[in-house]
Amino acid sequence: MSFDTKEYLHTRKEIIDRSLREYLPPDKAETKLHQSIAYSVHPGGKRLRPILCLATAELVCGSHKNVLPAACAIEMIHTYSIIHDDLPSMDDDDTRRGEPSNHRVFGEAVATLAGDALLTDAFSLITEKSLKEGISSELILRVISIISEAAGSKGMVLGQAFDLEMDGGQHLSVNEISNTYLMKTAKMITASVLSGAILSGAGEEEVLKLKSYSEKIGIAFQIKDDILDATGSHGTTQESEDKTGAKKHTYVSVMGVQASNTRVSELTNQAIGELESFQKTPNPLREIAIWLSEREE
Ligand code: IPE
Ligand code: IPE
Ligand code: MG
Ligand code: MG
Repeated sequence: MSFDTKEYLHTRKEIIDRSLREYLPPDKAETKLHQSIAYSVHPGGKRLRPILCLATAELVCGSHKNVLPAACAIEMIHTYSIIHDDLPSMDDDDTRRGEPSNHRVFGEAVATLAGDALLTDAFSLITEKSLKEGISSELILRVISIISEAAGSKGMVLGQAFDLEMDGGQHLSVNEISNTYLMKTAKMITASVLSGAILSGAGEEEVLKLKSYSEKIGIAFQIKDDILDATGSHGTTQESEDKTGAKKHTYVSVMGVQASNTRVSELTNQAIGELESFQKTPNPLREIAIWLSEREE
């Protein structure tokens, strides 16, 4: 059966966008804080993480309704992470998704607070809306535990701290770079897939396979991001620079574009291999993994 990935991603993105509009402040919010939140949440980006959450629910015969609060909470945490990532004290980026970055519009203080609010509100949203859907407290707690661990000092934030060490032209081994990518990017992607699985009643064996799948696509996703940066497909300079102007070490600057492409293909194939025991065809997680490895932006 043929699978129209573009159409699939488009329809799932619409579901996420609709829920985020329902849950979050409107674009014309009154306070600067709420305007700043809305500015980065709507219209947003690819919505990859919440789409993975929905796709996993579909794979294990769950419902969108049960996973949407978690999916949106994860997108809120992702949004906070990129607002803070762009700040002058971090990557000092003036643009995001082709528009001025949050702090360039609202100032550093409000942008910092918008990030703080998104992170905190994500957890009240998942609790309140999941309870409303009738999900058991036990499942909600399990998912909150997975998401908070992935986002915090053992996950994404640790990855961001490692990433700072890649500034200033410091040399890192390829293993150290891969571990940074696992932390800063793959952990939240894994939390998205596992939340979708657990809220849909997946078994432990399925959860383990999905964990391995998502760690692999998460690292591949970040390497692919480096390749797109290095080859100019993201509309940026050929080589990533840190904020001091020194060349930033990335997987691509250490391994070269060709070896990086090979690594993306290997990780994607291994990730797809983890899906063998799932009966559903076409398998949306397989198609998303392929799409991610082939994307051009
Ligand atoms: C950007 O993530 C930050 C990384 C971890 C590479 P995405 O590429 O998912 O960002 P948007 O939300 O689609 O813009
Ligand atoms: C962002 O990584 C990762 C997180 C925000 C957790 P990068 O700094 O490499 O991504 P871009 O290029 O700003 O999207
Ligand atoms: Mg960064
Ligand atoms: Mg950045």
